[in-house]
Amino acid sequence: MKTFANVFLGLFILKSVVAAPPTDTINYDTDTYEVDLEELDNLYDYDESLTVDQAQIEIGTVLPVVNRPILSPEQVPEDIEEGEESTPKLIDGSSPQGPLSPGVLGPETSAGISTCLLCTCIGKTVYCDEHNLDSVPLLPKETTHVYLRFNKINKINKNDFAHLNKLQKIDLTSNLISEIDEDAFRGLEQLNDLILRDNRIRQLPELPNSMNVIDVSNNRLGRQGIKQEAFKDMIDLHLLYLTNNNLDHVPIPLPDSLQALHLQDNNIQEMHEDTFCKMKDFSYSRRALEDIRLDGNPINLSNTPQAFMCLPRIPIGRLI
Ligand SMILES: *[C@@H]1O[C@H](CO)[C@@H](O)[C@H](O)[C@H]1NC(C)=O
Repeated sequence: MKTFANVFLGLFILKSVVAAPPTDTINYDTDTYEVDLEELDNLYDYDESLTVDQAQIEIGTVLPVVNRPILSPEQVPEDIEEGEESTPKLIDGSSPQGPLSPGVLGPETSAGISTCLLCTCIGKTVYCDEHNLDSVPLLPKETTHVYLRFNKINKINKNDFAHLNKLQKIDLTSNLISEIDEDAFRGLEQLNDLILRDNRIRQLPELPNSMNVIDVSNNRLGRQGIKQEAFKDMIDLHLLYLTNNNLDHVPIPLPDSLQALHLQDNNIQEMHEDTFCKMKDFSYSRRALEDIRLDGNPINLSNTPQAFMCLPRIPIGRLI
């Protein structure tokens, strides 16, 4: 009975903690959402399989701010009338304070409702997953992280992110993107993570050299979708995921910082001996690159044993 009482008391306390209005509102939830990426030294910091549901459950239990469905002008209900002042309130009735205030609402959209009323803005992070969007919405100028997963965005225009020079992470997983303007990401000097997986991209645009994580898996890059030497000067690039793109070559040269290169399910048939190592410099070693995936390619890794001498591990792939 005593145990039961203890458990009950424990649950009660836990519930109160969860339900209590967060005092240090703003960064709390960002931390939960970003926990993988904060520990960047870890090879597995970016979880390819993280689903939106996991992330959203966390948000829902921690901070029920404003999360309204997207509304077209005709659908605007009467209680949100044009011109009416509408400020998101935290559950204790106060307005969110933080670096984003007073601009927390962001620029007004054409529908007259700010992006942060349609989506959810917490601190400098904008969560706009599963909102049926067909283009990138206007985002607050201070935004550092933006999640636009599971929408219907079909094109990334050069102005979509142009004014957002604080952006560190853009996640566009599972949209319908087939085209990206060449300069859409060019000026984003702080951009670290760009997740474009599960789209229809044929051409990877120019990316800033600040990149840490690039995921373009499950797209249509093919033979010419990656420009020559595209990753060469990205001296902090850790993870490069290019799975399932019909690539016929490894995009060289690869920076020494690279820890994981996923190329499975492509059409790579042969490997140059200098792809990873340096045949003229046997003292060269590429210690960071521990995770190379070449399975699902028509290549026989046994043909080029010299090509892996400098690596800590042999790539995963066909060896016979
Ligand atoms: C793969 O390469 C090795 C070494 O060159 C060779 O002995 C083997 O027959 C090759 N396998 C196939 C299926 O071509």
